[in-house]
Amino acid sequence: MRDFISQSVQKMKPSGIRRYFDIAATMENVITLGIGEPNFVTPGHIMQAGMDSLMAGKTAYTSNSGTIELRRAISAYIERLYGVYYSPDDQVLVTVGVSEALFLALRAVLDPGDEVIVVQPCFVANAAAVEMAGGVPVIVNALIDDEFQITGAALEDAITPRTKAILISYPNNPTGAVLDHAHMLEVAAVAEKHDLLVISDEIYERLVYDVDHECFASLPGMYDRTILLSGMSKSYAMTGWRVGYATASAPLMDAMRKLHQYLIMSAPTMSQHAALRALTEGEGDVEDMRQQYDRRRRLIVNGFNNLGLTCFEPRGAFYAFPNIEASGMSDEDFCERLLMEEQVAVVPGSAFGDSGRGFIRASYTNSYENIEEALERMARFMRRHG
Ligand SMILES: Cc1ncc(COP(=O)(O)O)c(C=O)c1O
Repeated sequence: MRDFISQSVQKMKPSGIRRYFDIAATMENVITLGIGEPNFVTPGHIMQAGMDSLMAGKTAYTSNSGTIELRRAISAYIERLYGVYYSPDDQVLVTVGVSEALFLALRAVLDPGDEVIVVQPCFVANAAAVEMAGGVPVIVNALIDDEFQITGAALEDAITPRTKAILISYPNNPTGAVLDHAHMLEVAAVAEKHDLLVISDEIYERLVYDVDHECFASLPGMYDRTILLSGMSKSYAMTGWRVGYATASAPLMDAMRKLHQYLIMSAPTMSQHAALRALTEGEGDVEDMRQQYDRRRRLIVNGFNNLGLTCFEPRGAFYAFPNIEASGMSDEDFCERLLMEEQVAVVPGSAFGDSGRGFIRASYTNSYENIEEALERMARFMRRHG
């Protein structure tokens, strides 16, 4: 029989983070700082809203765009936080997580061979999503010297006549970096100069520490050039509910809605009801979780620095990204040996792009006590290998 798998899928690299979870799953007494999702259960009243909608018999599809109530709530939420207005009628689309929204955004704008600048280190799906949409990912590295903020000069170097869009995500997975105002303006200037679209994945927007999040679409001249992506997964501990959203100009949204309609029909109905509750009554929950993450963030960053694993201060998301070169190992070896010898799971930085080489991603989505224990185990590890 012939090989039915397409060349393009065969060429796609598998995610570099799965391997460690597969090993960890076979071991006992593992403390995982590996996974990129909250360790909190979705707040009770939000779950209840989802369950109530089921019990009220709301089990059918919704409008393709999402319920009008949820779209209004998303519109009001973005306007309240950032002063940017998107019409709930034709500028908001409810999706199956940012994952779907990201694919729709790319597929809606790319013709075969169009290039998208993918800023790395980044979420493992980004380059693959560009390929799945028929585009060509052009990798541009954000560097530790700039605390993993992307610079206008680095973007400029990657522009070709085929460049159509820049894909950024701040607060960033895996580094925890945020983009300060000056760097945002640099990105905006490049977008303006070369007439590019910016796809801004702001899924960690609510998890920032000692800084305010600035929405990319709120920058002068950027509203019509930006597709803004966000969702419920991280801020509200709702990864399993699968709800996200995209907002953009009406023509862009129209194109994305067309794809969404054929691909998905509508995001899960009960999850949309839960998301509505989260956005309208979940402020206290976000703040409570954010404060707990912040406490753990300080613990883990200090802990790494004390171990000689130099860690710049992450101001967003729930990841620390220390440099592990003091161990004398590659990031892959470090992760494998740490898991085998001390049963602590972290992820090699190189899984998120070449500029992550020599770093590890440690998620502080574990209890304060477990993070303390993980740091003790890592101290033992570093005494042996440092
Ligand atoms: C930067 C980033 N974007 C998107 C996602 C996927 O989010 P969702 O659950 O909304 O599909 C993740 C998940 O790890 C992420 O880190």
